[in-house]
Amino acid sequence: MSARIQAPRGTFDVLPEQAAARMQLEHVAREVLEGAGYQRIETPALEVTELFARGVGESTDIVQKEMYTFEDAGGRSLTLRPEGTAPVCRAYAEHGMHKWPQPVKLWYLSSFFRYERAQAGRYRQFWQVGAEALGSQDPAADAESIVLLATLLDRLGVRGLRLRLSSLGQLSTRLEYRERLQQHLRENADRLAPEVRDRIDLNPLRAFDSEHAGTREVMATAPRLIDQLAPEDAAHFADVRALLDAAEVAYEIDPTLVRGLDYYSRTVFEFTSDALGAQSGVGGGGRYDGLVEMLGGPPTPGIGWAAGIERILLAAEAPLAPAGAPVSLYVAADVDGQGEEKPTRRSAAFRIVTDARAAGLGAQLELAGRSAKGRLKHASRIGARYVAVVGDGETVLRDTEEGVEQTLDNNAVVHAVIRGLRDL
Ligand code: HAM
Repeated sequence: MSARIQAPRGTFDVLPEQAAARMQLEHVAREVLEGAGYQRIETPALEVTELFARGVGESTDIVQKEMYTFEDAGGRSLTLRPEGTAPVCRAYAEHGMHKWPQPVKLWYLSSFFRYERAQAGRYRQFWQVGAEALGSQDPAADAESIVLLATLLDRLGVRGLRLRLSSLGQLSTRLEYRERLQQHLRENADRLAPEVRDRIDLNPLRAFDSEHAGTREVMATAPRLIDQLAPEDAAHFADVRALLDAAEVAYEIDPTLVRGLDYYSRTVFEFTSDALGAQSGVGGGGRYDGLVEMLGGPPTPGIGWAAGIERILLAAEAPLAPAGAPVSLYVAADVDGQGEEKPTRRSAAFRIVTDARAAGLGAQLELAGRSAKGRLKHASRIGARYVAVVGDGETVLRDTEEGVEQTLDNNAVVHAVIRGLRDL
């Protein structure tokens, strides 16, 4: 026997039971988001590499070490999308969506790819549900976006939720702040973890993420961006908070909230769940007012979020109810004395199944050569109420719920099932 081939590290198969839970999740997401005027969008899994280099930011971990980037046979550098916001902004500019009524509200449920250290809740191919509203600066757009994610996670039964909120202000504030922070880090360089010290120039903000004791001490006295917001940004943030208060959404202000993407300005937020281990981030997002323009589109404000499907499912109270399609009818050709199915009976059975499906019934054909007893057991396993055993011109139709059977002309089977179901 040859060596067994396995799925690549950090990837997983979605088996039928999990697929049912995911379908249910998608159904709820659609209800929540489309009810608020969001429309579905899907962008390609492959994008030109520059989209993320420019959009997500050269200095981020994602761009530096987590992207699946390759040259295609035509010599172009392509990347498997590590996230969905830059692609949606690219699509907004590419399709002239600034001419549509604003804001343009879009949602997606797609798979993304990051070369990360695989562990529970962290994969190399994972799924996100995301929502982006482009074309409004209104703080109500921020609050609405956050409330929608809170509603979705609540409807899906995610346990132990906490919402952290902050504001990053505008680019000029952040650049000034970055210099101040770098100065603070340099003054205390000897107490910092080596990897934090090495990144003072490239990414000083990541120092807030460090678990290293010395670094944490240094960060406790570091200047805070939230204290240095320009008046208009501080006012925007105050409005967002007031709207969340009015909607009775609980949050904590966390000035150390660092998101791993460079495109954010003003509002940023993250939902975590106590039910998850180290990878506690269920979903997060924020405002990205400069992103569309950075990608060559018109100046366009934007706000949105994405939540990890696998993490939602891990943190959900009960497994989401599978919404499997109902099976009404299970059809088998009757066997003869030798246990063989006659070809004429097989084709009659096949015909009944196709007719039943054309009439809108859920129907399945016996395909594993089961015995009469095995058939009844299988019918109950798949949840079929009616079992049809097809003979020569005639079929025995059993209603397993009522425990009755009747013998009918083959042509009358589908009608009898429809009638029986209607009389329920
Ligand atoms: P993000 O925080 O990088 O944001 O990812 C959002 C969510 O995706 C995370 O909270 C987590 O649940 C899930 N996630 C991320 N990486 C992995 C992984 N390797 N395995 C499993 N789940 C993962 C974004 O991607 C932004 N595009 C969100 C956004 C939308 N901001 C504005 N609009």
